[in-house]
Amino acid sequence: MKMDSIICITGTPGVGKTSISHKLAEELGGNLVEVNRLAEEKDLFIGEDPVRGYKIVDIPSLCREIMKVVDEDSFNIVEGHLSHYCRICDLVIVLRLHPSVLLRRLEERGYDHRKVKENVEAEALGVCAYEAYQLHDDRVHEIDCTGLSPDEVLDEIISVLEGEKPCTFGGVDFMEWFLGGESF
Ligand SMILES: Nc1ncnc2c1ncn2[C@@H]1O[C@H](COP(=O)(O)OP(=O)(O)O)[C@@H](O)[C@H]1O
Ligand SMILES: [Mg+2]
Repeated sequence: MKMDSIICITGTPGVGKTSISHKLAEELGGNLVEVNRLAEEKDLFIGEDPVRGYKIVDIPSLCREIMKVVDEDSFNIVEGHLSHYCRICDLVIVLRLHPSVLLRRLEERGYDHRKVKENVEAEALGVCAYEAYQLHDDRVHEIDCTGLSPDEVLDEIISVLEGEKPCTFGGVDFMEWFLGGESF
């Protein structure tokens, strides 16, 4: 692993990005950039979604702000469901989680019904993974975190960073979940 690299940790809300990124930063040191926090602190919003009610992030401004806080001389972990929009990164880790497990996590988090449905369906379709792949191609590594402990997820990320494990994309497929009839 180069000490001057940037890795992004992305995925649907609830898959474990923030907790895993904190563990990774504890383990390896380096500069942790929390994208959601940055967007709030710098007020990088261009309005509110009229239907869903959430704030819409100004992606070009977000990318500029990310680049300002990235430390060129150190190892950077950029974390958040929009982190893959950061173009200048060496590796993108997409954390995936089975939709039925994600459903329970988001309900526990107190998300309303519509928000749970939207995020769980996005995970089943692999929306975030596909976006990351469109932007970063062979620099994207997907991890199916279903049934893995945080330490196991961490070990896999470190193996990829150290080149012990190849960067792989496309092996996680939750589309079948749509046929299971878990209704909303
Ligand atoms: N591998 C894991 N196994 C079990 N629970 C996990 C795992 N990773 C994260 N969690 C839990 O899932 C919840 C969501 O994690 P969080 O890191 O906030 O997700 P995100 O940042 O992707 O929205 C937290 O309660 C966290 O403790
Ligand atoms: Mg988070």
